[in-house]
Amino acid sequence: MKFETKLEKLSKKKKEVVKLVLKGFSKKKILTQISKKRNVTPEQKNSYRAILAHITMAILWVKLNKVVALPPKELKLKEKAVLKDWSEGKSKQILRDTLEVEVVNATKKNNHKPILTLSADMCITELQLHKRNELKDCKFLSCELEPVVFESLVKNIYKNNWTFMQYPLPFEIGKLINISVKDMYSHLFLDFCQSLKEHYHTIETALKNNIVSVGGVVWITVSTHIGGTLNKGYNTKTELLNLVKKYNNYEIKFKMSYSDSSPMYSVILKRTK
Ligand SMILES: C[S@@+](CC[C@H](N)C(=O)[O-])C[C@H]1O[C@@H](n2cnc3c(N)ncnc32)[C@H](O)[C@@H]1O
Repeated sequence: MKFETKLEKLSKKKKEVVKLVLKGFSKKKILTQISKKRNVTPEQKNSYRAILAHITMAILWVKLNKVVALPPKELKLKEKAVLKDWSEGKSKQILRDTLEVEVVNATKKNNHKPILTLSADMCITELQLHKRNELKDCKFLSCELEPVVFESLVKNIYKNNWTFMQYPLPFEIGKLINISVKDMYSHLFLDFCQSLKEHYHTIETALKNNIVSVGGVVWITVSTHIGGTLNKGYNTKTELLNLVKKYNNYEIKFKMSYSDSSPMYSVILKRTK
């Protein structure tokens, strides 16, 4: 459905707020304008709060519906994830560039096994890899547990005709990894935004069961903090590296600590046998 049609379907009050958001007005300015129009005095706190909630909802509605309605060229310029800032940052780009080199070197011709990934809604890593001639035929399978991000991901795939993305799965990736079998994927990208403790079992299962075929790449990123504070007494880097070393068929190709928005640790592995 066209963005304009969707907009027309909104209630009169919602449409009024959304239109101000689209004009680029700040929250404060929208609040002043709407309060004046609806004769709300700052003393009428409850209605005041209700308007603020309307504005927040309107901003989210615009993000969800407008961004995906833009043509791909503009969409590229607005490389922003729906909810969080996990896609931006120089270090993240260094990781993507390194991953690209490793994946190109490791991808055999006519390997039609999917790449299992956490693409988020903008599929930035996947788009970058897809641009490489050597990886043109690769298909990505993404899991996404956040409903808002999932919805945006589906819309992006559909609107931009990203045929290299298979229809994504709306659940926790660990559930899929638990039932995955040996050599099932060509590569695996576990670009988590949470701590190692939360995903230790999933990572261990993926490595132990060799779900990536020989020569394939496994990219793992985890947060070294929990809820914004350093996980005392738990050294994420050592724990992750020890986990990898438990299995003697993974070579560490690259490792990096970085902090674009919060402290993270990332490793790129290759299955050797
Ligand atoms: C760090 S972002 C991925 C960024 C992306 N790889 C890139 O290069 O920009 C992680 C995404 O996976 C989702 N996610 C995190 N943990 C997940 C899990 N265990 N299962 C499914 N989705 C998950 C998050 O909601 C988020 O959209």
